[in-house]
Amino acid sequence: MIIDKNKLPIHIGFIMDGNGRWASKKGLPRTAGHAEGAQTFRKIARYCKKIGIKYITFYAFSTENWKRPADEVDTIMKLFWQYLEEAKDFVKDNTRLIFLGDKSRFEDKMREKMISLEKASENFDEMTVAIAMNYGGRDDIVHSVKEIARMVKEGYVSPSDIDEELVESLLYTGNMPDADLIIRPGGEKRISNFLIWQSSYAELYFTDVLWPDFSPKELDKALEDYALRGRRFGGVV
Ligand code: IPE
Ligand code: IPE
Ligand code: MG
Repeated sequence: MIIDKNKLPIHIGFIMDGNGRWASKKGLPRTAGHAEGAQTFRKIARYCKKIGIKYITFYAFSTENWKRPADEVDTIMKLFWQYLEEAKDFVKDNTRLIFLGDKSRFEDKMREKMISLEKASENFDEMTVAIAMNYGGRDDIVHSVKEIARMVKEGYVSPSDIDEELVESLLYTGNMPDADLIIRPGGEKRISNFLIWQSSYAELYFTDVLWPDFSPKELDKALEDYALRGRRFGGVV
């Protein structure tokens, strides 16, 4: 990779899409695609760390994905559990791990594991890996608004104090910086309820490569493209 460090995004969001189609193309059940996609996740997280990306968010399961057949949801949850078991290694590696989304929907042992991994890594600062699991951008905003309503009701915030900073601080991403680059493999050109608030000025990169085939080389291509973008944030350059 030959990109100037200053031109790298601080926060990359990955929409890990295309697992099912990858498997179908090979005549395999969709669930095989999820298992392969989980390998890509590991590879890409390691590569991001190597090149010095500070924040990455992986969209693993949306609030809408519960609509899928029960056996597919079950396989995804099993893979996620396996990942949680392995995540101790990440945690050793000065990497902070956080989970974005409503954890109350998961089984107790899953939720407890997520919380304990977050706690064990909360002071690590070399890199932050966020996994969006039962995550929806709209749910994220509703969750923040509910917190604010509670604070107003309890009397320590007045409606006139509500500003972008407050709404943002109560999102699942807390004080993570906004996403600079959103990468969506799998051929679809949409956001599908990912980081809606946090991507208001993100650069978008779409590729037809399916997530299980996504590689560090493909990521380099996205980063090269990103480095050429002129980001104005509504101003003039
Ligand atoms: C992404 O791959 C994984 C999840 C949404 C959980 P898909 O399962 O959506 O794969 P395609 O889009 O059907 O190929
Ligand atoms: C987006 O993929 C969600 C994740 C990758 C977790 P989907 O496959 O669910 O999105 P749509 O249905 O094509 O918009
Ligand atoms: Mg999909």
